[in-house]
Amino acid sequence: MPFDLDKRREKLAEASGKCADGNKIHFAVENSEGKHIGVALIHNIDEQHGNFGPIAIQINVNERGKGYGVAVYQMLGNYMFNERRMHKWNSGYMEGNTGSAKLHKKIGFEVEGVRKDMVFINGKYRNEVILGITAERFFMNNK
Ligand SMILES: CC(C)(COP(=O)(O)OP(=O)(O)OC[C@H]1O[C@@H](n2cnc3c(N)ncnc32)[C@H](O)[C@@H]1OP(=O)(O)O)[C@@H](O)C(=O)NCCC(=O)NCCS
Repeated sequence: MPFDLDKRREKLAEASGKCADGNKIHFAVENSEGKHIGVALIHNIDEQHGNFGPIAIQINVNERGKGYGVAVYQMLGNYMFNERRMHKWNSGYMEGNTGSAKLHKKIGFEVEGVRKDMVFINGKYRNEVILGITAERFFMNNK
């Protein structure tokens, strides 16, 4: 199946209206005027081992670069570490995704490895960069 960005966007938008189910939580992202500008979805909440992630995030194209991505990751990190007593946030992005790479760096994630040839897009395989951040490191970097 070819990768269809519009379909993925539709699915995320639909999911953001559903709230929580099992080990996932869906969020709609709104700006301070209440305008819907994106979606976020916390995956794989593991209460036993105290880890979660990734948190899928999509900010509307015309709203990117305004600090919403960092604000959402900080807010959700705070919630998961401070309210849900989690210890570790696991994450990842496809190599070449500059926006996501910068977002993870700003939050303080560390690269833990690279998974080779993880997705096939536009006739090419792409690697996935694996990252993680502990609660301690998150609070050191996001005061
Ligand atoms: C990744 C994403 C969520 C970042 O959201 P955002 O609201 O633009 O993020 P912020 O405004 O907080 O910016 C964080 C940093 O990334 C940079 N950035 C964001 N998008 C960028 C892009 N496409 N290219 C280069 N830099 C980008 C910003 O300039 C900022 O860095 P700076 O402060 O040094 O200038 C957004 O680009 C997006 O929705 N991308 C498509 C979906 C996606 O890739 N999700 C992540 C999957 S892991």
